Amino acid sequence: MAFGRVSARISEKRAVLGGISRNPPRNGRFSENASADAVRSCGTEANGPACTNHFDQLLHSGGNNMVKSAIRKLVPSERIPALRRAAGPIMRPLEKWRARREFLRDAQRYAKFMTPSDPLVFSGMPIANVETQLTKDYNRVEKALTFKEPRRPFGTHVGDRIEDLMPRVDARTELYAHAASSTTALREWNAGGGVSDEIAPLTEPADRGVNDPEAFFLSRHSVRNFSDRPVADEDLQRAVTLAMSAPSVCNRQSWRVRFLRDDAALKARKFQNGNGGFGDIPVVAVVTTDLYRFCGPGERNQAWIDGGLFAMNLVMALHSIGIDSCMLNMSLTNDRIARARAAIGIPEHEAVIMMVAIGYGEEGHRRARSPRRALDTVIR
Ligand SMILES: Cc1cc2nc3c(=O)[nH]c(=O)nc-3n(C[C@H](O)[C@H](O)[C@H](O)COP(=O)(O)O)c2cc1C
Repeated sequence: MAFGRVSARISEKRAVLGGISRNPPRNGRFSENASADAVRSCGTEANGPACTNHFDQLLHSGGNNMVKSAIRKLVPSERIPALRRAAGPIMRPLEKWRARREFLRDAQRYAKFMTPSDPLVFSGMPIANVETQLTKDYNRVEKALTFKEPRRPFGTHVGDRIEDLMPRVDARTELYAHAASSTTALREWNAGGGVSDEIAPLTEPADRGVNDPEAFFLSRHSVRNFSDRPVADEDLQRAVTLAMSAPSVCNRQSWRVRFLRDDAALKARKFQNGNGGFGDIPVVAVVTTDLYRFCGPGERNQAWIDGGLFAMNLVMALHSIGIDSCMLNMSLTNDRIARARAAIGIPEHEAVIMMVAIGYGEEGHRRARSPRRALDTVIR
């Protein structure tokens, strides 16, 4: 009894901290209703829907349905809470091993597609790697020419590498043109000329267009109830154009986004474990980044960073044109991601960053409170 009360209070606290309401547990289990959907909708595969302990994680996230149903068959339901408590310390090493295994698989995929780091660049590497190196190098020239006092000479190796790789690229592409104009500017500077206004344009004070930052930023919320008002393709394209203003490592713009509607959206949603109870989602965006666009061991995490920045910009771009959204985690094991890839048509060289539910919020919908921390816990 005493444990039941303590457990209920812990559950309440968790619910408050997570900004979600949860029905009181009965016999240590949560009722199957809308609140349970809300709980599920906040779950990542890693922490599992009820997030109580490692036994839950095994039940909810392992993808091992046979183990799950065997446990459910063999163990009377009233024993499950006690089993959960006992399982935590036992399952911990197993989960650590699973985490390492997933990292290893991420690492293998990254190593397969990454562009070699500068000293190891070779001209016979795959064309996507050539494009990455050229982008990285032309961006180096542009950046160096923005400095107050650029060195003179600088970047001779960079210029040589650009000229070495350019013949591999179609001369009609923008990339070729960017690479060509950058090396020309570099050579001119190194020969004693001035800074190219094309490569490093002078800026003028610009109207930033946000007259009320608080109103703009603080009016964005994750929306989980959408009306049936359709979202126009042109608006999605506009949002992507705006989102592409996001910074990215050496301007490599590894981002990719697929907009899915109707059956394709329904199919994709099944691979995402945080949208239970959402109702119809007019558009499901799948944000990915191209691993060919990252270089060497040091950039092993950059795909997640650049992808996250782009997704955030996309959400703010949608917000700026009156469209609501909710980011949807793709925190899944590699096996489940592989199934999602196959169903959606995402090649192995793209890292799956997240989905985003997109639509117009239903009139009068509720939103999760999602309280923010105190400022002094963030500014250190
Ligand atoms: C990467 C990421 C994944 C998320 N995944 C989900 C999800 O699967 N389901 C969901 O309902 N909300 C999801 N959210 C939304 C968060 O719950 C939400 O951003 C947070 O509670 C703050 O609330 P706000 O966006 O309304 O400010 C996700 C947010 C992020 C950044």
